[in-house]
Amino acid sequence: EPIKPKKQRLRWNAKEVEKGDYEYFMLKEIYEQPRVIADIAASGSGQVQKIADFIKKTENIYMVGCGTASYAGIAGEYLFSKIAKRHVNVSIGSEFGYDLDFLTKKSLVVAISQSGETMDVLESVKKAKARGATILALVNVLGSTLYREADKKILIGAGPEIGVASTKAFIGMLAHLVLLAYALIDKMDDGIKALTMAVKSTESILTDANVKRLMLLVKKLKTKNHIFVIGRGLSYPTALETALKIKEISYIHAEGLAAGELKHGTLALVTQGTPCIVFLPNDETYSANLAAAMEMKARGGYIVGISNKSNDVFDDFIKVDDAGEATIIPNVVVAQLLAYYLTIERGFDHDM
Ligand code: BG6
Repeated sequence: EPIKPKKQRLRWNAKEVEKGDYEYFMLKEIYEQPRVIADIAASGSGQVQKIADFIKKTENIYMVGCGTASYAGIAGEYLFSKIAKRHVNVSIGSEFGYDLDFLTKKSLVVAISQSGETMDVLESVKKAKARGATILALVNVLGSTLYREADKKILIGAGPEIGVASTKAFIGMLAHLVLLAYALIDKMDDGIKALTMAVKSTESILTDANVKRLMLLVKKLKTKNHIFVIGRGLSYPTALETALKIKEISYIHAEGLAAGELKHGTLALVTQGTPCIVFLPNDETYSANLAAAMEMKARGGYIVGISNKSNDVFDDFIKVDDAGEATIIPNVVVAQLLAYYLTIERGFDHDM
């Protein structure tokens, strides 16, 4: 049957899909992040408040994604709980299909994906729809399969992400989840304030002086075979994302884990000189996390503290200015740069 195709204009211009004066797409996309966050803080609130008002009426919320996007789901769980006192179930795309039998018509599934084409997510969304759940897509590509399948959509608005490892789209996911959490308690302004702090903190990380500092650390890590990354609360998904970035582009084995889990086994692998990256934002997780860093230090670990203030237990220290509940954003940017320069030092290509 003849059909009349629905045309949508992609507001992407050619410049956005070229490297410009960057060596790799990944670096260009890392440096676009302050603008991505600022844009979301400035204009994202419109679509976010509407969606938040809808979410208020739902009974249960599930977040699902793959890889980096799945860590946005874990961060969303913490943000919705801490800020909006809403319970969220999180699943990874390839597993969701095995534990969604209790979805009902009152369920909301937040499907998170940069490309909107990841099959594991699309499969889960199809099963969820078959059970009558409403699908909200948090997606970066207008017109993608997930965008079209979803009942409601939030366009991340990060612009085309060419790099294989997700950077600015992930930051855009986190920025929207921060806003959503605050919008659920009608405190959108607090969300915008947190994002504004995150922009400043991110900009201070993306300075030449700070990159030089990071390079010294990279030179120490580049020959290591194993790197451990720990965090608690919102720094737990940050630790997972840091490990994934290191693995997927620099090919060093890295393991991200909840800091409290260290003593239940993994600590056995920490020996003299094992690099241990510890996220220590200025929040309620600080002292417990510092204790975990001391445990690693006691076993000879090389402690890399990522925090708003230094500490004697650190062998290396990367400063991250506080951004309230959005501190996960600048913390992740440090992780991206670390993985990026480890890859350069080890002679690999981030974009391939
Ligand atoms: C993987 C990428 O293939 O897919 C990850 O290497 C990405 O970086 C994951 O996070 C999910 O992709 P998307 O497009 O669904 O966010």
